[in-house]
Amino acid sequence: KENLINSAIDVLDANFQKGGFTIPSEGLYPFQWKWDSGFIAIGLSHYNIEKAKAEIKTLLDAQWENGFIPHIVFHNENKSYFPGADFHRSELHPLSSKKFKSTGMTQPPVTGFVLQEMYRIAEDKEDMLNFIKDNIDKVYQNHGYFYKHRDPQDEGLMYIYHNWESGTDNSPVWDDIWDTMNPPEYNFERKDTTHVDASQRPSNREYDHYLHIIEIAKEHNYDDAKIAELSPFLVQDPLFNAMLIKSNQALLELYELIGGKEAEKLNLRQWQKKSISRFNQKLFNKELGAYVHYDLRNEKAIPLVSSSSFSPLFAGIPDQERAEILLKTMLDKFGGDDKYLCASFDPTDERFDPKKYWRGPVWINMNWLLYYGLKNYGFAKAAERIKADSVELIERDGFFEYFDCRKETGESKRTGYGGNNFSWSAALLIDLLK
Ligand code: DGY
Repeated sequence: KENLINSAIDVLDANFQKGGFTIPSEGLYPFQWKWDSGFIAIGLSHYNIEKAKAEIKTLLDAQWENGFIPHIVFHNENKSYFPGADFHRSELHPLSSKKFKSTGMTQPPVTGFVLQEMYRIAEDKEDMLNFIKDNIDKVYQNHGYFYKHRDPQDEGLMYIYHNWESGTDNSPVWDDIWDTMNPPEYNFERKDTTHVDASQRPSNREYDHYLHIIEIAKEHNYDDAKIAELSPFLVQDPLFNAMLIKSNQALLELYELIGGKEAEKLNLRQWQKKSISRFNQKLFNKELGAYVHYDLRNEKAIPLVSSSSFSPLFAGIPDQERAEILLKTMLDKFGGDDKYLCASFDPTDERFDPKKYWRGPVWINMNWLLYYGLKNYGFAKAAERIKADSVELIERDGFFEYFDCRKETGESKRTGYGGNNFSWSAALLIDLLK
């Protein structure tokens, strides 16, 4: 156990940059990513609290004047990533950061609950609370941005306008949306497939779709109202919204600890009430026994089960009865004896692919969320299993980005894929083992 933790620390130390942030993986992801940063800060808090603080400070430093926090902060001119700063052109938005170039899209809002995790882990609580005091308003403003700009029908459910905002980039959940689009073939040079085998990454045609949505947003200078009106991709994602709800709760509890801030607390309570009730009404699919995505552009639910379907457990969204239904769905579809928990996509569905990024492999950040989620509902056995599976995969293969969920693949012994020495795999392993 100590050896594994030390190896994880080595990974994080090697990926830490002079600018005060941690890259997800050398070569493949050479900048700062929003939700990666959050998970990384949790791991860092266990052994170097100053680095953890720097990680969050650096991210918040790139916040836009309207509260928006971008999904990638381009701290340097690295040419080994596509699409880079020159493609995204965040400067088109009048309120974008003057300090850092970034993308014009975001990622799941984990920063609120990450602050609370840092407080849980920190030994010097007073010092950490001071840090939180200095930074919490920025995270609150980020939530304010969502409620103001990402919820056109005032439902308490935010939309994402790009699959990269979901974090689950090439999930089969998006396939039917790609079928509604017919983007031009862009002439671009992929960089990711020079670092990782193309069979483990999205296809070129998928990238055409990804780029096309960005082109539409850029034509309108990343104006939220225009994007809501015109983006062919507009989805209410259970993972994204569960992260927001969990973070709302964390901000509320942290503000209570700090004292004052009555207006913020009132807003947070109202947001929570609206979001949780609508989430349960709109995103739960009874036949599947799981939460699913809602395609807001085409006004229809997407009846597919993915690991995102279970993430509401982490945010305390379902009641106990519904949580038990979720557990049953997870174990029935994802939890056979021949499998590690938890595949990122339904292994019983024909779209499942055990090696391809978010179309099936196990991801450690999702396992971490599910571990705490299952535990909170008293599902101790499933929680221990998901933790043991995560540790076993990393111990056997290394700190990979994602892993084949099948115990017997009939192929090579190594079933870790994507980037190696991947930061959040290391960071969250530290948290699971401490
Ligand atoms: C990538 O480049 O694949 C990233 O996941 C985008 O955020």
